[in-house]
Amino acid sequence: MTPKKTVLPKKAKPAAKKPVAKSAVKPEKKSVAKAAPAPLVSENELLMQSLRGMRDILPDEQPYWERVRRSLSTAAQDYGFQRIDTPTVEYLHLFVRSIKEGTDIIDKEIYSFQTRGGDRVALRPEFTAGIGRAYIQHGMSVLPKPIRLFSMGPVFRYDRPQEGRYRELWQGDFEVFGEADPILDAQVMQVAYRVVRELGLKDVEFQVNSIGTPESRKRYEKALVRFLESQKHKLCQVCRERLTTNPMRILDCKEDKCVQLTSQVPQALDFLDDESRAHFKSLLEYLDELELPYSINPRLVRGLDYYTRTVFEIWSTDREGKKYALGGGGRYDNLIQELGGEPTPAIGFGLGLDRVVLEMKRTQVRPYEFPKPRVFLAQLGDLAKKKSLRLFSELEKHGILTTESFGRGSLKAQMRVAGRLGVEVTIILGQKEALDGTAIVKDMVSGTQETVTQERLVDAVKKILKTNVTLAHPPVKSEK
Ligand code: HAM
Repeated sequence: MTPKKTVLPKKAKPAAKKPVAKSAVKPEKKSVAKAAPAPLVSENELLMQSLRGMRDILPDEQPYWERVRRSLSTAAQDYGFQRIDTPTVEYLHLFVRSIKEGTDIIDKEIYSFQTRGGDRVALRPEFTAGIGRAYIQHGMSVLPKPIRLFSMGPVFRYDRPQEGRYRELWQGDFEVFGEADPILDAQVMQVAYRVVRELGLKDVEFQVNSIGTPESRKRYEKALVRFLESQKHKLCQVCRERLTTNPMRILDCKEDKCVQLTSQVPQALDFLDDESRAHFKSLLEYLDELELPYSINPRLVRGLDYYTRTVFEIWSTDREGKKYALGGGGRYDNLIQELGGEPTPAIGFGLGLDRVVLEMKRTQVRPYEFPKPRVFLAQLGDLAKKKSLRLFSELEKHGILTTESFGRGSLKAQMRVAGRLGVEVTIILGQKEALDGTAIVKDMVSGTQETVTQERLVDAVKKILKTNVTLAHPPVKSEK
């Protein structure tokens, strides 16, 4: 049957260019709109191309990513963070309630859609909200505190794609629930530092600030608005609107004229309540104790609205041209309660893995080296081919990393592959050996070879490789 052709007119524009949040947060309608159903496939989608701002991470690049994944996992383990994986898709409402309208993420960048069942859902633009939801949903508040959780995976933001800015980006995320003491803030920053340093990034520095409690933040916002109202003409159009909707976001604006003006605005630190001030002071003392490189950035407010008190970002300091934060985080002492849980202080950070990888490449950090196979398994004839599948699995069970070229018939071609790979041992299984239950083991360095029974094969290979067998994994113990 020929599939029905449903093709959009050529110039169909991506719908999400406009801010989506306003419509996205409208009360749910029970019935789906009556407009003509959109075609299922547009002409653009027929091109074999990934979406703008979304990339394939090809095998060539994986050694960098593997190093990042390993560093994150070991740091998580060493600092007592347990892995959690939450769904990529959540109710839209979760993100709107946590990150809040008035932020770029909710107003412009969230990927939201209505499911066939009528639910308004969104691709996660970050981890914190989903992990917070899971914390409440699974009653984790009864666990001994602090509860440390770690995750890693893709998040989605409809940002303007450029180097270091993607629409599908990867984050490593660390969250600590149930402790308000600033020592945890320092420890979370220590974990972030440990990861980037272990990845070989040397020139990194934290920017840190405190935005206080919601009350002190309100006082600050008032002073900020008072100052900016008097200079309104110097702001970009968007920031003029932000003056009434979300004035703190003006401090985040990247427009030159806004950056210039915001360098003169009052500082959040001057409006802190006594407790937040003491909290921040202790944090700085801990950072000094840990000798973490930091500078106070009094205008750092962060692009998500759930933060209270500590906010921080980790920047690479030595980047010519474009600069961007490698990661960011902060305290969100009210979020869990706002989402319907018990009052639970919390702190966390997210590391932008795409940017970390870019920085690793720029500074020529060595990627992870996957272990190379040291054994090649060659076969000749139908029976040998069959038997070699079993032999391969036998070697693999003993953790001996082996490679083969099963698709090739001629022994010569297979030996060429073995030579090119630089293996130390080649096992040859010909018709005769397959019938005999033996195999030829060739030491590729000395050129000597011997015929052994297939039962003795693993030992014979190990003998040639001596003690330093490249183990793909510890030998598998079969269950009794
Ligand atoms: P965030 O600052 O929005 O924080 O994102 C963390 C990191 O993700 C950024 O520092 C940056 O490296 C990376 N990132 C953000 N947007 C993009 C993009 N379009 N392309 C590439 N990389 C990007 C959060 O997401 C918070 N949830 C962090 C947190 C955890 N706060 C408390 N707990």
